[in-house]
Amino acid sequence: MMRRIVFGAVLLLGMSACSSEKQPASPSFDDVLTSRRSVRNYDASRTITEPEVRTLLAMVQDAPSWANGQPTRYYAAVSPDKVEAVKKLVGERNAENIAGAPVVLVSTFRKGLSGFFRGDATNEVGDGWGAYDNGLSDAYLILAARSMGFDTLIMGYRDADGLRQLFGIPEEEAVMAVIALGYRADDPTRPARKSLDEIVKFF
Ligand SMILES: Cc1cc2nc3c(=O)[nH]c(=O)nc-3n(C[C@H](O)[C@H](O)[C@H](O)COP(=O)(O)O)c2cc1C
Repeated sequence: MMRRIVFGAVLLLGMSACSSEKQPASPSFDDVLTSRRSVRNYDASRTITEPEVRTLLAMVQDAPSWANGQPTRYYAAVSPDKVEAVKKLVGERNAENIAGAPVVLVSTFRKGLSGFFRGDATNEVGDGWGAYDNGLSDAYLILAARSMGFDTLIMGYRDADGLRQLFGIPEEEAVMAVIALGYRADDPTRPARKSLDEIVKFF
């Protein structure tokens, strides 16, 4: 709770900073990490512009990838009709949860790139490395979004064929997550995490 208050204060301070400053002060990385949540209730009165989405995705381009192959692609729905069309392809529950989100992004990756050398899989993971790189990009995306004051919901429940058709996504790309982008309408709670000892073994 304290961290949320500090994060909000940093954002407000930045926004009300002297008029000669163009950019609000950035929240700390710790504030970004701890205030980022999967948001399932968006403020429908707030919009996000295409230039803001471009700024966000330019930050995401700093994500690492296998041999810098950069296999991730994004399809950004920013026009109301496309946003509504994507919302029909994420299942009823997800659609309800992201009803107020002004932007929806679809992430894909080019197959046969990460984890491959001259067409051959480098090891047993194969195209799993493409999914790995895509996840890294999306991790950058949800954190960079939070640093800009936005909120997100990653959705793995989605109609890949419907999205392929809607955006003309080629077969060479694997359709991965749909990510809603908007502003939280209320403060989400933090789902419990496993204990550290359940997920790490020290040697
Ligand atoms: C690959 C992936 C797929 C997910 N798919 C959905 C989804 O379809 N619907 C949903 O409400 N949340 C989805 N989530 C969000 C998770 O439920 C959420 O990250 C998890 O409960 C932890 O909560 P937090 O993000 O607030 O920390 C997904 C998350 C990931 C990483």
